[in-house]
Amino acid sequence: MTIQDEIKQLKGKKQAVILAHYYTRPEVQEIADYTGDSFYLSKIATKLENPIIVYCGVAFMGESGSLLNPNKKILMPDEEADCPMAHMVIKEEIDNARKKYKDLAVVCYINSTAQVKSWCDVSVTSANAVQIVKNLPNENILFVPDKNLGRFVAAKVPEKNVMYSKGFCPIHEYMSLEEIQELKHLHPEAEILVHPECCEEVVNIADYVGSTSGIIEYVSKSKRNEWIIGTEIGILYELQKRNPGKQFYFPKTKPVCLDMKKITLEKILYALKEEKNQAFVETEISKSANQTLNKMLELAK
Ligand code: 13P
Ligand code: SF4
Repeated sequence: MTIQDEIKQLKGKKQAVILAHYYTRPEVQEIADYTGDSFYLSKIATKLENPIIVYCGVAFMGESGSLLNPNKKILMPDEEADCPMAHMVIKEEIDNARKKYKDLAVVCYINSTAQVKSWCDVSVTSANAVQIVKNLPNENILFVPDKNLGRFVAAKVPEKNVMYSKGFCPIHEYMSLEEIQELKHLHPEAEILVHPECCEEVVNIADYVGSTSGIIEYVSKSKRNEWIIGTEIGILYELQKRNPGKQFYFPKTKPVCLDMKKITLEKILYALKEEKNQAFVETEISKSANQTLNKMLELAK
């Protein structure tokens, strides 16, 4: 029996479901019941009846899954898979801004720990950040922790005072303008599609800026053949699956999120067998972190 068969058998026996982010390994996306971006994965989990959810992604995804589905068992195949950016803000920064602006809304990227979410008013993902910030009644906004998504939102919502903290995703931040320009030089027909976690210069030369699912949709709806992709390499699996024959070019430094790649088939099997590595959020912070997440689901409707 192959490892894939073993996983499928155990999954059926335990009525478990496997969710995977687009940045996970191809074989992980292949075995998953649902693949998607951060927003889709947090939404779909609330609609499933399965008592066990295996979350193939990083810690903040498991925490969000556990907050939104308190009666389900959320299993993380690798308990050390974490997003460095999720930790890149301190409470003092938020407290100081709240003192300064009476009507402040603190908006956190879903790529933040449950602790950070508990300090904030509403969570967003890259797929809904602009829409949610636009629709908030508040004029003063503090966006945490991603400076790049924060700057992108600020530019799209110029009617508000959008401030942002200094966090960043190392994988997107270090993608350079030169390597994207080099790709454009080699493939002049290709359009440039990038994630808003990229730095300002890269975002400025892009033809389209959007979440992983936004990028996939954009390519799938177009007849164009060649694409320069400015995001994590794992997205290639879904891009090729939906667009056989199209050509995708990535920066030569290969943007790889090693934390997402920690999830392997062996670890999924182990998590299912042993039901260990359960995502968990301390009770003292779970109520307010849950409100922050639920507000996103409510406002993104
Ligand atoms: P999206 O899946 O929302 O595009 O975010 C990318 C990401 O960095 C997830 O960690
Ligand atoms: Fe975090 Fe970047 Fe990895 Fe996404 S790609 S999980 S933002 S480190």
